[in-house]
Amino acid sequence: MLRTHTCGELNKKNTGGKVKLSGWVHRRRDHGGVIFIDLRDRYGLTQIKFDPDKNKKAWQEADKLRSEWVIQAGGKVVARPADMVNKKMATGEVEVEMEEINILSRSKTPPFELEEEKNIDVREEKRMEYRYIDLRRRENLNILEKRHQFVNYIKDYLSGEGFLEIETPYLGKSTPEGARDFLVPSRLHPGEFYALVQSPQQYKQFLMIAGVDKYFQLARCFRDEDTRGDRQAEFTQVDIEQSFVEREDVLQLTEKMMTGAVEKVFPEKEIMFKPWKRLSYEESMLKYGTDRPDLRFGMEIEDLTSQVKGCGFKVFADAAEKGGVVRALCAKGGAKFSRGEIDQLTSFVGQFGAKGLAYIVIKENGELQSPIVKFLGEDLAAKIVEKMQAEAGDIIFFGADKEEVVCEALGELRCELARKLGLIDENKLALAFVIDFPMFVIEHGQLAPSHHMFTAPKEGDEKLLDTDPRKAKCQQYDLVANGCEVGGGSIRIHDRKMQEKVFDIIGFNENKKKQFEHFLKAFQYGVPPHGGIAPGIDRLLMILMNKSSIRDVMAFPKTGDGRDLTMQAPSEVDKEQLDELGIKSVE
Ligand code: AMO
Ligand code: AMP
Repeated sequence: MLRTHTCGELNKKNTGGKVKLSGWVHRRRDHGGVIFIDLRDRYGLTQIKFDPDKNKKAWQEADKLRSEWVIQAGGKVVARPADMVNKKMATGEVEVEMEEINILSRSKTPPFELEEEKNIDVREEKRMEYRYIDLRRRENLNILEKRHQFVNYIKDYLSGEGFLEIETPYLGKSTPEGARDFLVPSRLHPGEFYALVQSPQQYKQFLMIAGVDKYFQLARCFRDEDTRGDRQAEFTQVDIEQSFVEREDVLQLTEKMMTGAVEKVFPEKEIMFKPWKRLSYEESMLKYGTDRPDLRFGMEIEDLTSQVKGCGFKVFADAAEKGGVVRALCAKGGAKFSRGEIDQLTSFVGQFGAKGLAYIVIKENGELQSPIVKFLGEDLAAKIVEKMQAEAGDIIFFGADKEEVVCEALGELRCELARKLGLIDENKLALAFVIDFPMFVIEHGQLAPSHHMFTAPKEGDEKLLDTDPRKAKCQQYDLVANGCEVGGGSIRIHDRKMQEKVFDIIGFNENKKKQFEHFLKAFQYGVPPHGGIAPGIDRLLMILMNKSSIRDVMAFPKTGDGRDLTMQAPSEVDKEQLDELGIKSVE
């Protein structure tokens, strides 16, 4: 037996008992001949002791030990003297006097230290290359444990509600669905390819046609896109689909399940809205400039377009005249910003296309200080201050441009100001559903599905598909947490004709339609109304664990340029492998 206990288990009750422990040498101290070692495993640390006067042979072996060696040792649990009890350690009441030791594996000096505070400066690439060492850190093991608990709660919850977990293929078919596919060459069918699934979307719809009724899967999704802070090339969804449901059924299920999971596994998080907030896409864009608003703080955007029509400030008057918008937000306490800070904020919004950042400061004595009041006139300025509910000590910022530009610029500014003014409380969790999305967006001058092409139009908007599809709304819903899109889903089209119509509207030619022939075929054989959702587990955990990068919550993430540094993937392969696949690599 390699161990009788883990390194996180022993306490006073074990005093006097003989135990065997196994683990890594975490820290070593020598005190007048006696060697103290903190032995570490997933469960914790235990102080073990080698005394040359008690057991010379074991002590001699222990003297060779270095950081991160793996050992097994056996001895007797003793209570620590009262003044030596370590309250910070779960096992701090005891130590183990070791009588035997067995070195199981030696270690080179690790490329970085494991203790949190000493690890801060280590480059991420180094930590990723040696991820198996990085993961030994308590914080990282905690993340893996929490991830497991969170996912497990969800699995149990859905199983309890009668959902079946069904595995669907990763090797699927390349269909034009949004992101770029990862292609996998077929050896048995030279010149043909599988695609790694971007999500099990089509499979889960087939399962509904098959009568499975309630499906879920912890599904890995693959998308060949550039990775960034909240995006990875492969990631995990809790993929859910149900038959004979309406939007409300899916939203209720999601809300109950997620609230339960958060309360169980992250009790320190304060869920701000119970029930969760619901916002229409339109309201979200207007008030927050984005369809994934951070609702932990207010600072809502107001529309002033009609008020400033024909006003004396040309920038505003022109925007209003030419079909653009003029909007503003009020930052409480922002009057203290220096000129330099305002200039910085002006270049900040410049990144999003804003051509300037007009402002009005409300000074402590109530006077207005602004480069634009002289053009607006005092009356209009006072009306704006009133509408924005601005008070002494505040600052109002304005955006005037095409609607998309103003939304993005003020939406980003709102979050930047919240960071600057310390309005963001990390312990708060603002969960919301954004609903009533437009069915289509314009991409490269062509109508494209706003999410995916299987989403049904909003009830009552079906006719608009023939007359003015741009006005049609759809049964899409997004799940938003603290300003991050953490899930999306919809009620699906279940009628072949409607599905074909959508393909036509989004400009699919015969060739593209043919790629979906398998899908349309299934729609001739009795399709139940159905819908679902897919919360992204990695993003959710990133928010729940207050991480700024999705990489921190994945065991083996890819770097920004899509590499797995631990495995050193991607890598070149042998020519024979390529020949077998009928593939030639070109420069
Ligand atoms: P969608 O593409 O919106 O929907 O994805 C759903 C959720 O998955 C997460 N997600 C990602 N997480 C990390 N890295 C990525 N590259 C990434 N892309 C998406 C997000 C997102 O909200 N089949 C549909 C779902 C449905 O309609 O049921 C789908 O995949 O949290
Ligand atoms: P100007 O008349 O160009 O000196 O601009 C006066 C103020 O309006 C400055 O503070 C500019 O930053 C701001 N401004 C200019 N263009 C815009 C715009 N499109 N939206 C918001 N503010 C602007």
